Amino acid sequence: MQRVPYNFNAQKNLDILSKAAFLTTKSGNKINTMVIGWGSLGVMWRLPIFSVMVRQNRFTHTLLEKSHEFTVTIPYGDVSHLIPVCGERSGRDIDKLAACGLKTLKGQKIATPVLDLPGMHFECSVVYNRLMGKEHLNKALEELWYNKEPDDYHMFYFGEILDSYITE
Ligand SMILES: Cc1cc2nc3c(=O)[nH]c(=O)nc-3n(C[C@H](O)[C@H](O)[C@H](O)COP(=O)(O)O)c2cc1C
Repeated sequence: MQRVPYNFNAQKNLDILSKAAFLTTKSGNKINTMVIGWGSLGVMWRLPIFSVMVRQNRFTHTLLEKSHEFTVTIPYGDVSHLIPVCGERSGRDIDKLAACGLKTLKGQKIATPVLDLPGMHFECSVVYNRLMGKEHLNKALEELWYNKEPDDYHMFYFGEILDSYITE
């Protein structure tokens, strides 16, 4: 494990995120992961922040509301075989980690683990969350992204990055 600054490989990481990364959550004994394609990396409140957008119907949302922490894994290898399960099935119905044969590595700073995949990992503690306000949303985006699942707006979670590292 190689500890690196939060913005190490930022261009590469954001590029990979836009295709598929993993948002992992844990509450009690339950560990779940889901594919994300949206998020941002930056500085807010003078803190390094990873923000993610989670629709309220996701099991991940249920777990996040309890745990207030998450990890993000940016995979550095081919993960296309994981997408049908981790990006389409809900942890409410199946144990996705078991179904995919995915192992985890203990978190260094938080109780939530990271996926044991080659890549860069972020351990985050939620410092702010906010449900999207429909009234503030651009109409074109409303039509594009909230037409099929009306009223399932995203919850934004802003996580302070407490640790970041690369595994092989
Ligand atoms: C490429 C890709 C990107 C995705 N990005 C997001 C995202 O940023 N936010 C979100 O809420 N769902 C996103 N999803 C959908 C979730 O991964 C999917 O609904 C998942 O089954 C939710 O799992 P859960 O119910 O266990 O939380 C994405 C799916 C794919 C395939």
